[in-house]
Amino acid sequence: MSTFGHLFRVTTYGESHCASVGAIVDGCPPGLTLEPSDIQAQLNRRRPGQSNLTTPRDEKDLVHLQSGIEYGVTLGTPISLLVKNEDQRPHDYSETDLYPRPSHADYTYLEKYGIKASSGGGRSSARETIGRVAAGAIAEKYLKLAYGIEVVAFVSSVGKIHLPSTVVSPSSNDADTDDAQDAISEDFRQLLATVTREQVDSHPIRCPHPETAELMTQRIVRAKEAMDSIGGTITCVIRNVPSGLGEPVFDKFEATLGHAMLSIPATKAFEIGSGFKGTEVPGSKHNDPFVKRDDGRLGTKSNWSGGVQGGITNGEDIYFRIGFKSPATISQAQDTAQYDGTPGSLAARGRHDPCVVPRAVPIVEAMACIVIMDQLLIQNSRKTAASLLPPVTTLPSTMVLPKKA
Ligand SMILES: Cc1cc2nc3c(=O)[nH]c(=O)nc-3n(C[C@H](O)[C@H](O)[C@H](O)COP(=O)(O)O)c2cc1C
Repeated sequence: MSTFGHLFRVTTYGESHCASVGAIVDGCPPGLTLEPSDIQAQLNRRRPGQSNLTTPRDEKDLVHLQSGIEYGVTLGTPISLLVKNEDQRPHDYSETDLYPRPSHADYTYLEKYGIKASSGGGRSSARETIGRVAAGAIAEKYLKLAYGIEVVAFVSSVGKIHLPSTVVSPSSNDADTDDAQDAISEDFRQLLATVTREQVDSHPIRCPHPETAELMTQRIVRAKEAMDSIGGTITCVIRNVPSGLGEPVFDKFEATLGHAMLSIPATKAFEIGSGFKGTEVPGSKHNDPFVKRDDGRLGTKSNWSGGVQGGITNGEDIYFRIGFKSPATISQAQDTAQYDGTPGSLAARGRHDPCVVPRAVPIVEAMACIVIMDQLLIQNSRKTAASLLPPVTTLPSTMVLPKKA
């Protein structure tokens, strides 16, 4: 469906070439000061035409706040966010009357609905993500003001160009021995703890490691010159998240986060914490021992768990990685078949991203903010409901609770 969330509910609408795209956000707390500029900043980071590494489709993507706000303050009622589609060129897609584009959503939408938008990707287009980014910016403002929560995503690979192994993981992990070192290096933990949006945006590729960013750029330019495309990964860190978020068992925090991330167009993979690399490290090295922090709180010495245990946040940084495929639309001719099965060759026209990851960074951040916002409202409602009961002064003698730090 087109709605995500329980108490912070985001419904997006719109197709690639209709009049407008946007979202209705229901459940935003009243009293939040909100200006269009709070939302526009992230929309500008998502918009096309930012560099020669992205599609040249020229959209201003200016947000119009239609409801739910008066004098710059949220009313607690549904907030409607509208962005006009201005630079449509439906004729770029006329061949797609005959051909379902390989690895696009044309064939499956037609199979499902028996009808489909006549041009562009319709609902499956990345234009849909505008509503998510706008809604995520609202959640982000609340999270920052109320909890000091920070969400920063960055490009961690393009094709086979990754952040160097010294930054991500020590090379000795190549050996399958029990004394393998940590799969995540101290340098990478440091990067996750400190990386800022300014650092990420200092290069159009949005990788905070300048030398790697240059190599990634060359890789995308190579794909573009070959009339081809290339994929990549985005890593995201969420800092200052309170413990206790996540709803076992089916709505575990990482399950909901994975759901949110894998709903972004072109995503193919999701991992949290040590992810697939964690499978190569013995339990004795993979466990996160507890330590008493300077502020008296219990924390963990390492953070292989990625800030989530038993589907519930533990107060450590949450970090995860998402894999994006190489965009389906390429200008070189591909052998394929028409809807009626006639073999043929299709070379895409139109304006396309040779690699989606630089533009997907704010989309990942937005979906992360929407997940946290929803989970926070759920946990706060549970705590509020419990706090309204008369206090339990004596527990049954057999029920012993551990004393907390
Ligand atoms: C920011 C962003 C930009 C995208 N731009 C393109 C593009 O220019 N060309 C393309 O073929 N796919 C692009 N995509 C991906 C398609 O929307 C997506 O692959 C397609 O709808 C099929 O859906 P699926 O890959 O999720 O199965 C983009 C995705 C994102 C997140």
